[in-house]
Amino acid sequence: MTYPRKHLLAIEGLEPPHLADLLDLAESYALLNRSGKTQRDLLKGRTLINLFFEDSTRTRTSFELAGKRLGADVINMSVSTSSVNKGETLLDTASTLNAMHCDLLVVRHGQSGAPSLLSQKVDAAVINAGDGTHEHPTQALLDALTIRRHKGRLEGLVVAICGDIAHSRVARSNMHLLTTMGSRVRVVGPPTLIPAESARLGVEVFHDMKAGLAGADVVMMLRLQRERMSGGMVPSAREFFRFYGLDAEKLAHAKPDSIVMHPGPMNRGVEIDSAIADHLTRSVIGEQVEMGVACRMAVLDMLSRQLPRNR
Ligand code: NCD
Repeated sequence: MTYPRKHLLAIEGLEPPHLADLLDLAESYALLNRSGKTQRDLLKGRTLINLFFEDSTRTRTSFELAGKRLGADVINMSVSTSSVNKGETLLDTASTLNAMHCDLLVVRHGQSGAPSLLSQKVDAAVINAGDGTHEHPTQALLDALTIRRHKGRLEGLVVAICGDIAHSRVARSNMHLLTTMGSRVRVVGPPTLIPAESARLGVEVFHDMKAGLAGADVVMMLRLQRERMSGGMVPSAREFFRFYGLDAEKLAHAKPDSIVMHPGPMNRGVEIDSAIADHLTRSVIGEQVEMGVACRMAVLDMLSRQLPRNR
């Protein structure tokens, strides 16, 4: 099995065999989790620290669960309880973590590049759990695994990523992963929410939902991230929904067996209609969360193979 790095900071730069190996390993953890069995000796004696400078429900809890299912000692540090609030710098935090002999460090930070900076200062293997608008690699892995389970492959699929692309680290990681694995990726949204680099990333740009969804195998909706917007980038939520919110009428333009995804948290009635989000056959949003635990187990497993024993 191949993984070329000590850390997982981004999807960009990983090649098809690395991604395929991670997805295959994650698939085996998905089956293990469904069977109710555990493998609690793999990370026994290892310390996993979840360091979250931004809010999170799904990502933090699934890393916690993944670590515990593999037998690690898991500690959650959130900003409100840490001395970061007292003015400690990121690098002071790094020396504290080193002194605690942390083996695996999961970091979420509002600043793009913060996990990478930390990875240069800590002994632990660092996993980026979302940095600013840059990347969220484990989310892209869980999305790809969910797609592969439904469609049997990634190659040749038409995937429409819709909404607030500009502020989305989820979109960026997915663009890298899916284009690397041979999917045909489209980004769909208003011009103000489509980043200029989209063309460089080898994706097609659409400003009209119906055209963007036409013939799609996968429709991935994103949250409108108002907290990252500087001002009038979008009209009212109502108007956004009218043009870009996923409802039955717009979804009818995608393939009849297309699946609907959303990384959460959802703004129901803004980017997605509740009836679609909860659709029994088309929505795979619940399965994405389940695959999140399996993918994070795979990443922890893969990175731990390169850790020195007994530090
Ligand atoms: C995403 C994130 O934090 O980047 N959420 C997640 O990890 N499931 C997307 C978002 O915040 O909209």
